[in-house]
Amino acid sequence: MEQYVIKGGTPLRGEVDISGAKNAALALIAAAIMTDETVVIDNLPDVRDINVLLQAIEGIGAVVVRLTRNSVKINAGTISSVTVDYEYIRKIRASYYLLGALLGRFNEAEVALPGGCDIGTRPIDQHIKGFKAMGAEVKIEHGMIKTKAEELLGNHIYMDVVSVGATINIMLAAALAKGNTILENAAKEPHVVDVANMLNSMGANIKGAGTDVIRIKGVEKLHKTEYSVIPDQIEAGTFMCAAAATRGDVLVKNVIPKHLEAITAKLLEIGCTIEEYDDAVRVIGTDNLKCTQVKTLPYPGYPTDMQPQIVVTLAISQGTSIVTESIFENRFKYVAELNRMGANIKVEGNTAIIDGVSGYTGAEINAPDLRAGAALVIAGLVAKGFTTIDDIKYIQRGYENFEVKLRNLGANIEKVSSEKEAMKFKIKVG
Ligand code: UD1
Repeated sequence: MEQYVIKGGTPLRGEVDISGAKNAALALIAAAIMTDETVVIDNLPDVRDINVLLQAIEGIGAVVVRLTRNSVKINAGTISSVTVDYEYIRKIRASYYLLGALLGRFNEAEVALPGGCDIGTRPIDQHIKGFKAMGAEVKIEHGMIKTKAEELLGNHIYMDVVSVGATINIMLAAALAKGNTILENAAKEPHVVDVANMLNSMGANIKGAGTDVIRIKGVEKLHKTEYSVIPDQIEAGTFMCAAAATRGDVLVKNVIPKHLEAITAKLLEIGCTIEEYDDAVRVIGTDNLKCTQVKTLPYPGYPTDMQPQIVVTLAISQGTSIVTESIFENRFKYVAELNRMGANIKVEGNTAIIDGVSGYTGAEINAPDLRAGAALVIAGLVAKGFTTIDDIKYIQRGYENFEVKLRNLGANIEKVSSEKEAMKFKIKVG
C-alpha cells in the first residue's frame, strides 16, 4: 500500500503550476458523450477519478484516445449501452453525471449509485427531482439508478438546496430536452460555468450559468468541440494554504484569481501577504499567523473543499479560530488525526473550535478522504520530525503529481510502497 513519508519543517518556496479542475473535468467528460462527433478535452488532470470515468465511458462503447497525459479525444458515436455498472464507478461521486448526459441523448440511463468521499449522507434527491420534472421516470433498484423518458421536456425547476451536482446534471439533460428549462436556485461554482461554456461550444443554448437562474433552450443535437478545462480552484487553494502554514513563499500559477477570492480573503485576514497577477497568486506566509472565523458556503462563499486545509493552517495560528461547516455534516473526521499531531481542536456539531498551538509533531496518520488527506499532508510539511500518511489513494483521486509538485517547492516528501523504501527516504533526509 502506498504511503507518503514527510519530513516537516521546511517552508515551501518557489512556483507551482496548477492542473485542470477535477470536478469540472468530470462533468465535461460526461458532456462529451452527448454528441456522436469527436470532442477533444485539454488541460485534463491525470488523476484517478478522471481515469475511472474515462474507463466507464469506454465500457459503454465510447472511443477514448489519450493524445497526451493531459489531453483526451472522445468519440461517443459508438455508444452501445446506456447501462454503466463498471466496478469502480461506484467509488466516484461524479458517476451521476452520466445519468444526465445519457438521459439527454438517449432518453434513458442506468448508472450505479454514486460513492465518493464519505463526508456526509450526500443525497441525490435534487437530481431526481429535476429529471422527473422533465418527464423522466426514476427508480432505484439493485444499487442502480434507472431513468427513462418517452420524451424529455424542458420545465421550470426550483432547487430546494444549492447543489453543484444537481445543477450540472439537470443542465446536461436539459441541453437536449425539448423546449425551455429554467433552473432556479442554481449553484454558481466556476465548474458550473465551465460545463455551460463547453456545452454552448457544442451548440447548446445555455444562458445565466454563474448566476442563480440558468435558462436552457433545448437543441436537437450537439456537435464536436475542442475545450480546455479551467484551472483547479481547490488544488490552487491547497497550495496557498500550504505556503501559509509552512511560512513559505509560493507563486501559484495557471489560476483564475477571481475563483480564489474567498481563500485569498481568509489568508489576508490571518496575516499572509498576497500578490495577485493575471493568472497567478503569490502567497507569502508569516511567523505571526492570526486566528479568524470561517464558514463554508456555496460559491462565491468559502468552499467546503477548502475547509480542512484552512483548519490545518488556523490550528497553528495565534488565538482561537472558529470554523463552521455548513455544507456536509461529516467533514471533521480528520480532526482526531490532527489532534494526534498536537493540534488543540474541539468539534461541536458542525463547528470546530481551534485553539492555536505553536506547531505540529510528526505522527503516523490516515487520510480519511481526498481534501482532508491533502490537509494532513500540509500538517506533515509543518510538523517536527517524520509523518507517515496511509490511504493516500484518496489524495491521488484528485491531486495530480502532488508529491512531485511539493518536492519542487522544497518539501521533503516521498511516496513509498514498502517499509524499506520509507527507511531509505528517512536515512536520506536525516
Ligand atoms: C460537489 C463536489 C464536491 C464539493 C461539493 C460542494 C464534485 C464531483 N464534487 O459535490 O467536491 O464538496 O460539490 O462544493 O464536483 N444535496 C442534497 N440533495 C441533492 C444534492 C445535494 O440535499 O440532490 C446537498 C448535499 O448533501 C450537500 C449540499 O447539497 O449538503 C451540496 O452538495 P452538492 O453541491 O450537490 O455536492 P456534490 O455535487 O455532491
